[in-house]
Parts: sequence; C-alpha cells; structure tokens
Amino acid sequence: MARTFSGIQPSGGMHLGNYLGAVRNWVALQDKHQCIYCVVDLHALTTAPNPADLRANTLTTAGLLMSAGIRPNDSTLFAQSTVGEHAELAWMMECTVGFGELRRMTQFKDKSDRTEFISAGLFTYPALQASDILLYDTELVPVGEDQRQHIELCRDIAERFNNRYGETLAVPSHMIPKAGARIMDLQNPQDKMSKSLDSPGTIGLTEDNTSIARKFKRAVTDSDGEVRYDPAAKPGVSNLLGILAAATNRTPEAVGEDYSQYGALKTDTADAVIDLLAPIRQSYAEFMSDPTEITHLLAIGADKARVVASATLQRAKDNAGLILHNNSYNNSNG
Ligand code: TRP
Repeated sequence: MARTFSGIQPSGGMHLGNYLGAVRNWVALQDKHQCIYCVVDLHALTTAPNPADLRANTLTTAGLLMSAGIRPNDSTLFAQSTVGEHAELAWMMECTVGFGELRRMTQFKDKSDRTEFISAGLFTYPALQASDILLYDTELVPVGEDQRQHIELCRDIAERFNNRYGETLAVPSHMIPKAGARIMDLQNPQDKMSKSLDSPGTIGLTEDNTSIARKFKRAVTDSDGEVRYDPAAKPGVSNLLGILAAATNRTPEAVGEDYSQYGALKTDTADAVIDLLAPIRQSYAEFMSDPTEITHLLAIGADKARVVASATLQRAKDNAGLILHNNSYNNSNG
C-alpha cells in the first residue's frame, strides 16, 4: 500500500473549505493507502502562539480530524512535537536546503510581510516540513494548491541528500485536488474561504444549522439573475454551485442546469451542507466531552509513527557520517 503523509496546522477550528479542499480527501485515502496524518504544532511555533491556545488547538484539530472521519486505528494520527525525530531530521534538512531556495518560498514572503517579528523558524519552515514527509518514506502528499512549492522543494531536498550520501530518502509526489475543491468566501467570493469562523463568509465545520442557513441566505451573488457556472464572471453563484456539487458529488456545471433562481440554489446548498456537517458536529461533541481520550489516541499514534521515523533518522544519520548510539531512539517504546 502506498504510504501517504500530510500535515495540518493546529488552529481553533476548521471550515468548510478545509474540509472539502483537503480533509475529505484524507478521509477517502484511508481506504486505499497507509495514511499518516500529523498535527504540526512545531510549525505553529514559528509565529509564537499563546501556549494555552496552542495546546488546546492541537487537541481540537485532532478531534476535528477524527470527527471528520480520520480513523486512528487504521491510520496514524499524532502531534508533531511528540515524535522528536521530526525536529532532529529537520536540522539535517536545513543543512541540505539552500538559503536562496528558502528565500523564494511564496508562503514565507506572504507570512513575513504580515508579521512584525520574523522568526528564523518561519524562514526554515519548509525544511521541517520536508523532515515530516521524508521520515516516513512517503510516496504521496495530499495537499492544497498553496503547498505545491513546499512539496517540490521537499523533493529537491531529498534528491540532494541522496546525491550527497547515497540512497536514503524516498522522493515523494504531491497530490493536489482538482479545481472545484477550491471553496471561496461567501461574502468575498474572489477570495478563498479562510477567515475566522465567526465571519459571515466562512462556514465552520461544527457550526449550527441555523447559522449555516443564515450565512448561505446572505451569500453574495450578482445582479444578472442567471444561474450558470462561470467562476471568473460570476464568482458568488459559481462558488455556491461548487459547494453544492462538492457536497453531493456532482459537477458544478450539472448542478447549474437544475436551477433558475438564486434563492432555491442558496437554500439547497445550505441544506446539503447541513446534511454533510451534522454527523461531524455530533461526533465532535462526543470527542470533546472527553479530551483525555484524544490525548490518549494521539499518544498511540505517536508510538506508531516513531517506529518508522526512528529507522529513517538512523539511516540518514548513519549515511551522513554522524556517530550512532544503539538504542538511543527506542527508549520511548517501553
Ligand atoms: N505547511 C502545511 C500547511 O500550511 C502544513 C504541513 C506541515 C504539511 N508539514 C506538512 C503538509 C507535511 C503536508 C506535509 O498547510
């Protein structure tokens, strides 16, 4: 079975765009692949979040993933910081990637433009991400379009490492979902859905039905009154068609043929999203009634992850000429 790895930053919540664009794909991949999913709390440190928030958000994110259908028994789900190998291989990756390569990363440019204090970690972020992926001999990395550049850099890092030290790291491929999985903001349909969950343009994964219905009712459309899938000319209507299509596994063009009125399109889209999210919200309430269970499941995931990660790290250290100590990576299993 192909080994699949992906990571998600811990944040206070997840929205419909995260779910339809990425997480739903992660859930589906579990049926065919050996999947490893990681809540990347070390990556979150690059912007110095409040400690209590970071810890709570790591658990919330894991709870949301499991509520959305990630099965911790079939897959491996864990928090990045609990498998020390990630930080350790990251150093070797930092010594393999070029300063100029990191400087060209658009995510770094975007994020550093927006923050006052730019940590060195924000700059070397892609080296840690490469470590995440390469520790698991990953073949496939399902991510959104915004991560394409990081995954390509990860491939270059792996190849450079292998050229220097001999075959050590498997070179992964990315898997980027087709357009249509790109869910836009309901109020600003030319922008990706990305605002905080209380924004009227964002639908939270655990939002209640009344609020979902209200946000769709107020969604921005246009004034020509024609239902047609045309994202450039009609971003608002096309986004509704894209969401309804994604929620019902059809194409936006086909869905568009069923409607002549914006009102009916909005109501049906809201209803489809409510049906899609209701079971997730219910499952989430159960998980959050006992967060220690989440901690426990993450610990089991970390133990599974460590078995693979420690073997890869040993191989990388050995090939790079670092001195090895027996057993120094196996203690945590006992
Ligand atoms: N950088 C990714 C994001 O912002 C998160 C991430 C960290 C990741 N490590 C990863 C994604 C490894 C895929 C594989 O979404």
